[in-house]
Amino acid sequence: MEFKAPIPDTPLDHRRNPVLGKPIDRVDGRLKVTGRATYAAEYAGQGKVAYGYVLPSAIAKGRIAAIDTAAAERAPGVLAVLTYKNASPPQGQGKRSPDGPIAAKKAVPQLADPRIDHYGQPVALVVAETFEQARSASRLIQPVYDRTPPASELKPHLAQAIKPEEREPDSAVGDVDAAFAAAPVKLDVTYTTPPQSQAMMEPHATIAAWEGDKLTLHTSHQMISHGIGSVAATLNMRKENVRMVSRFVGGGFGGKLDVWPDCILAALASRKLGGRPVKVVLARPQMFEMTGHRPQTLQRLKLGAERDGRLTAIAHDTWCDNNPNETFYETAAMATRSLYAAPNRRTSHRLVHLDIPVGCSMRAPGEAVGLLALECAMDELAEKLDLDPIELRVRNEPKEDPEKHVPYSTRQLIPCMREGARRIGWERRKARPGDVRDGRWQVGLGMAAATRNVILQPSSCRITLNPDGTATARMAMTDIGTGTYTIMTQVAADMLGLPIDKVSVLMGDTDFPHAAGSGGSFGANSAGSALYAACEVLREKLAQAAGVDPAQARLEDGRLVAGNVSKTLVQLAAGQPVEAAAEFKPGDLTEQYAQQSYGAHFVEAAVDMDTGEIRVRRMVSVVTAGRILNEKTARSQCLGGMTMGLGAALTEELVMDPRFTSYVNHDLAEYHVPVNADVADLEVIFLPELDDKASPLKSKGLGELGICGVGAAVANAVYNACGVRIRDYPLTLDKVM
Ligand code: MOS
Repeated sequence: MEFKAPIPDTPLDHRRNPVLGKPIDRVDGRLKVTGRATYAAEYAGQGKVAYGYVLPSAIAKGRIAAIDTAAAERAPGVLAVLTYKNASPPQGQGKRSPDGPIAAKKAVPQLADPRIDHYGQPVALVVAETFEQARSASRLIQPVYDRTPPASELKPHLAQAIKPEEREPDSAVGDVDAAFAAAPVKLDVTYTTPPQSQAMMEPHATIAAWEGDKLTLHTSHQMISHGIGSVAATLNMRKENVRMVSRFVGGGFGGKLDVWPDCILAALASRKLGGRPVKVVLARPQMFEMTGHRPQTLQRLKLGAERDGRLTAIAHDTWCDNNPNETFYETAAMATRSLYAAPNRRTSHRLVHLDIPVGCSMRAPGEAVGLLALECAMDELAEKLDLDPIELRVRNEPKEDPEKHVPYSTRQLIPCMREGARRIGWERRKARPGDVRDGRWQVGLGMAAATRNVILQPSSCRITLNPDGTATARMAMTDIGTGTYTIMTQVAADMLGLPIDKVSVLMGDTDFPHAAGSGGSFGANSAGSALYAACEVLREKLAQAAGVDPAQARLEDGRLVAGNVSKTLVQLAAGQPVEAAAEFKPGDLTEQYAQQSYGAHFVEAAVDMDTGEIRVRRMVSVVTAGRILNEKTARSQCLGGMTMGLGAALTEELVMDPRFTSYVNHDLAEYHVPVNADVADLEVIFLPELDDKASPLKSKGLGELGICGVGAAVANAVYNACGVRIRDYPLTLDKVM
C-alpha cells in the first residue's frame, strides 16, 4: 500500500473499547524482569561458543608498522588471532549506499589493512575457548605503529570545513544579511555542544555462526533489515545469506543503527574456525571509541527583530566534526527552517574532518543539539525585547512552513506552550534574573519549544490467522526498549477485533518480512502502518471466504460481521492458517505538508549562590505527536527524553585527549548521565491530536521529541535563576561561577 492522505475513518477510529492508546503494561515486561528475554550475547547457539576479544588501536592516525602475534597464538586456549595480515576474505570498501539517509548498506571493513584512521579502531581479534583466555592473550600483542600527528580539535580547523553532500545542507530565503543589518533589535551569539555518547545499557555484542555460505548473527541492532545489507556489502556476499536476530535490544539511542566491529569481527572469526559460533562483546570502555558518538557542534545564530518581536532575519550556521571516512553530520539547523516565521532566513551545515572516532546518530540527531542553540537564542532575544519568552514565540508563529511554503499537517506549538505555562505556574516567573531566592538557592523558570521531523519508512508485515482464532504477526522490526512489541500488539488487536492475549507479534529476525526498524522516531509509525495494511488484507481475505463484500465487513469480538452475516474467525479459518501480507510505502505527503511533532518544555531550576551547583527541581513537558499508541510507553519515552535532555544540559560531555583523540571519560563512572538523584519531579502531558497526513495510524514519531529543546529550557531556567548565560554546554558549575 502506498500511503495517501487523508486517511478516512479506519477500524482504529471506531473500535468500541479500543486497546490502542491505553496504558497497558508491556507484553514483554514479564520476560524482561524475570531474565527470560534473551539479549544478543546470551544465546547458547549451536556448538560451543568461542570468544573473541578485540585489541583496539592505541594511536589516532598512522599505520601498523609491525604486529607480532606469535606469543598470543601460543597462549592457553587461543584458537586464532586475526589481524589485517590474515583476516579474509577481502571486504567491501567503506562506501555509503546512495539510497537513504541512514547508513543502510555501508560496508564497514575490519582488519582490512594496516592503516589506522582513529583511536580505538580494531587492530586484532584474539579468539579463544574462554573470554578470559582471549583477553589475557590480547595483552601479549604489542603493535608497533608509525604515527601521524592527528588533527583533533574543531575550532582550529574550521577553515577546512566542507559542505556535506547529503541532505541539503544549506537553505536561504530572502536577504538575511541585509535584513539583519537593518533590524532594530539584533542578537548574534555562538553556542557549542560537546561530543556525547549514546551510553545505552546493553553493550554492542554479536554471536556469529556460519553454515556453509549462510551467516547468522545474533546481535544488538536497531535496524536489522538494513543491517544485513551492510554486513553483505562488507563481506561481499548476498544479503539473502545473512540473517540478523535482535529479539531484544537493551537500548540503542542511535548507537546501534549501524553495523559495528563486533558484528564483522565475529563473522570473520567464525569463518576462520569453520563456522563455529564466535561471540564478541565490546567492553564498556571500548565502546566509546570503537563505535559511534554524537559529534560536537559549533552554532552561530543571528536573530534580527522588529521592536514588537517579529523576526525579520534568522541565520543559523553550524559546524560539526567527524572522521574523514564519514559523511554523517549533525543537521543542527534543520528545525530552524520550520519553527518560526521570518521573511529572511539562512541555514548552513559544514563538516570538518578530523582524526577522531566515528560520529553518528544519537537520539534526535540534528534537533537535539540544534534546539540547544536556537531555543536559548530565542530566550536571549526575548530579554532584549523585554518580552515574555512565550509571547515572543507566539508572535513568530508561522501560518505555513516558512521555507517550503506548504501547510503544516498539524501544529500545536502554542497550545503546548499555554498548557505547560499553566502547569508549571509560569506567572510566578520574574523577568529579571536573580529575583527569586530560596535560602542560598537562586530559583528560576525557563522554557523552550520542542519539535522533531516526522519520518515514515517502507516496512512490511505478514500476519497469520491461526486455526484456533489467534493471530500472529511477523516482521523484522525491533523493540529497543521503547515498547514496540506492546504497541504492535495493540494495533493488531484493534484492527482484528481480538483481545491482546489472542495476538502475538514476533519481531527481531530478518527471516521475517523486512521492516523499518527503530530509528528516527519512524519505527512505530512505519511498522505499525505495515501491520495495519496487513490486517486490512486479512480482513478482505476473510470477507471473501465468508462470501461478503469486503467494504462492508468488520472484524469485532472475534467475528467477521457484515450485514446479517456473522461468523467467528475460527469458522472462517476452517482448520487452516490464513495468511496475509502487505508492504507499506510512504507517499509524497512529506512534500505536500510540513510534518513535525511539537511540544513545550518547562523547567524550574535552582542554583547554589556559593558553589554554582545546579539542581533541576521540576520539569513539565507538553507533547503533541498525533495518536498516542500507548499512554504508558509513550510517557516513558518522554521521561527518558527529558532525562537525556537534562544530561545534555548539565552533565554529558565526552572529554578528548587531543594527543591521542581518545576519550578520557570512557565509562559510565566518568561519562555522567543523570542518575536518580539528579531527576526530581517530571510531568508529561499529551494534548489530543490525530494527524491523518502522518500515517494510517494518524500518529507521529515520539521517541525523540522528548529530548528536543529540554536542555535549552534548563539553560534558560538557570539564566533566569542566577543571571549567568552559558553558551557552552554542558552547564557545569565552573562555568556558573
Ligand atoms: Mo535514532 S538517533 O535514529 O536511534
